[in-house]
Amino acid sequence: MSFTVAIDGPAAAGKGTISRAVAEHFGFAHLDTGLLYRAVGARMLTGKEPVEAAQALTADDLGDPDALRTPDVAQAASRVAVIPEVRAALVDFQRAFARRAGGAVLDGRDIGTVICPDAEAKLFVTASAEVRASRRHKELLERGIASDYDTVLADVRERDARDANRATAPLLPAADAVILDTSDLSIEEAVAKAIREIAAHRD
Ligand code: CDP
Ligand code: CDP
Repeated sequence: MSFTVAIDGPAAAGKGTISRAVAEHFGFAHLDTGLLYRAVGARMLTGKEPVEAAQALTADDLGDPDALRTPDVAQAASRVAVIPEVRAALVDFQRAFARRAGGAVLDGRDIGTVICPDAEAKLFVTASAEVRASRRHKELLERGIASDYDTVLADVRERDARDANRATAPLLPAADAVILDTSDLSIEEAVAKAIREIAAHRD
């Protein structure tokens, strides 16, 4: 039997951290859909045409996620993500993943609104732009990637605006999503709240 958890929200809100913990808790598979757009963005940076890159994408292209988790690739991802044909090319893969037996957590921007409008549980994870930028800045430094807070904040704000204002599948909470503001929550508190919400939908 399938059970789909949709976790959406803006950049560096904690979607991935919460999704991984939720997947582990319930024994579900997890797909970070941002990696699909990052993989297409990375191809664009090497001169490939984005729609063709999206149509040719395979699971193997996500094999080295850390290489895709850089600020340049994030910006490229948000630029290819406005192209309707890029988004369309990635729909079937995401929906098939969502309906796999045993349950699935997908995190992104449009999971609860477009990819899985019938998901059994939907969370919209958010936090202030300043909190998100400082978390992402710290994370980049810990990974040995040069970073400065003001640049990260500007990057987060620019991507949020592009994601929220695009015509196709903009970033916005589904009408039936539960909003989880993690600005003042530790990871443990945010994860515990998410698990409680999802557990309430399992009965
Ligand atoms: O997936 P998304 O970009 O939404 O965020 P993430 O990669 O899960 O989280 C961004 C950073 O914030 C990570 O370094 C997390 O450890 C951290 N984080 C946090 O400090 N407090 C939270 N409540 C959630 C995440
Ligand atoms: O980790 P972070 O939240 O910073 O970014 P991400 O989730 O890896 O997504 C990178 C970019 O891909 C976003 O800024 C969006 O433009 C795009 N994206 C999207 O449009 N739809 C999704 N379902 C996931 C990501």
